[in-house]
Amino acid sequence: MKIEAIRLKNFKVFRQAAITDIPAFCVIIGANGAGKSTLLDVFSFIKDCLAATVSKALQTRGGYREVVSRGMEGEGIRIEMDLRMRLNEVERSVTYQLEIGPGEHGRPAIEQETLSRQHQGAPVHLLNFQRGRGFVVVNEESFAAAETLQREEQVLNAPDVLALKGLGQFQRFQTANLLREFIENWNIADFHVNLARGIKDATGYAEHLSSSGDNLQLAANHLYENHRATFDLILQKMRQRIPGMGQILPERTPDGRLLLKFQDGSFADPFVDRYVSDGTLKMFAYLILLHDPAPHPLLWIEEPENQVYPRLLWELAEEFRAYALRGGQVFVSTHSPDFLNATQLDEVFWLVKRDGYSQARRARNDPQLKAYMEAGDQMGYLWKEGFFEGADPQ
Ligand SMILES: Nc1ncnc2c1ncn2[C@@H]1O[C@H](COP(=O)(O)OP(=O)(O)O)[C@@H](O)[C@H]1O
Ligand SMILES: [Mg+2]
Repeated sequence: MKIEAIRLKNFKVFRQAAITDIPAFCVIIGANGAGKSTLLDVFSFIKDCLAATVSKALQTRGGYREVVSRGMEGEGIRIEMDLRMRLNEVERSVTYQLEIGPGEHGRPAIEQETLSRQHQGAPVHLLNFQRGRGFVVVNEESFAAAETLQREEQVLNAPDVLALKGLGQFQRFQTANLLREFIENWNIADFHVNLARGIKDATGYAEHLSSSGDNLQLAANHLYENHRATFDLILQKMRQRIPGMGQILPERTPDGRLLLKFQDGSFADPFVDRYVSDGTLKMFAYLILLHDPAPHPLLWIEEPENQVYPRLLWELAEEFRAYALRGGQVFVSTHSPDFLNATQLDEVFWLVKRDGYSQARRARNDPQLKAYMEAGDQMGYLWKEGFFEGADPQ
C-alpha cells in the first residue's frame, strides 16, 4: 500500500495544505518552524489514534486546542489520505478521511470518518461513521454500483474511537482491515543512540529494528543468524564508511544476554557497543534498518544527517531510495544540502510559512529548479544558493 496524497485542514501549522502525487521517496525541507516535525506528527497522530483513542492522541499533544490551528477551533481538524492498495490482486485507489471536532465536556469527537472509493467519477463510501455510529459495506467485492452495496449498521462504543479500530479484525471489512494493518506497521523513527547501546536480553526476538533503535542488538543478531549475506553486506559498507572498522559481531553472554562487539583494526580487543562512537552506531543502525529483508510499508525519518559524516549522506540517501523502491515508502525531512544533493527533482518538497501557516511546494513544479536540474545541477547546491523560494529563514 502507498500514500498518494495527503490533505490537511487545521492541523497545527497546516491550516490548509496538501501534498499530492507523493513519490516513493519523499524528501521535505524547510526553515525552522515551517512544519517538518508537524508533518511527521500527522503520521504519529494517526498511529496513536489507532492504538488508543482520538482523545488520548490529542491529550499527549496538549489537547484539541493545541492541535487545531490557532484561530480555527470551531472548524475542526481534518486529515485526508489518498491510498493505493492491492486487494485480491486488484489495484485500487481509496480515500480515508478523518474529521475531529472539540466534542462535548472536554471529550473530542470524530465528526466524520470515511473510507471511500471512486466509482464512475463519484465517491462511494465503504465506511462512514459519525460520532461512533455509521455503516460499513460488507460486499465490497461485488462492487458495481452504489445501489447494490450491502451496508451493515454499526454502533461503536465511543465517539472518539476510530471505526478502523472499533470494527475489529472482521475478515469481511477487507479494505478497512488492510488500512489498519498498514498504519500499524508504519515505522516513524525516533532513534536514540543511547537506547541503542547496551546489553539486551537475548530471549527477545526482533525481526525489525524498533523505531527507537532500542533492540539494535537483537535486530542485528536476527540478520546475522538468518540473513548472513545481508549482514556481510552491511559489514562491508561499514568498513568502507568508518575508518578502521574491522569486524562487528553479536555475542551472547554466559547469562543469556546479547551485545555487539565492534572490532577496530588497530586494536586486538573489540569495543562493546556501549563504547563505540555515536556516528558509528547510528550508521550501523541505519544499515540494519534499511537492509531489512521485510521493509516497513512506510518509514519516516527526521534529519538523518545528524551524527553522520557529510560525505556519507549521498549513499545514505540512495539507500533510503532503494528501501522505498523495495516496497516501503520513505519520508525524510532534512536540513542537509549534502543529503539533498543526492535527491532527484521529483522527490523534493519544501514548506513555506506565511502569516503563521505553512504550505507545501514541490521542486518539480518550479520552472527554475526544473531547468537547473535538467542542466545537471544538484538540489543541495540550488538550495544553498537560495533557489527554493521561501524555504530559508527571512
Ligand atoms: N495549533 C497551532 N496552530 C498554528 N501553528 C502552530 C500550532 N501548533 C504549533 N504551531 C507552530 O508550528 C510550528 C512547528 O513547527 P515544526 O513542525 O516544529 O517545524 P520544523 O520541524 O520544520 O522546524 C511552530 O512554529 C509552532 O509555533
Ligand atoms: Mg523539527
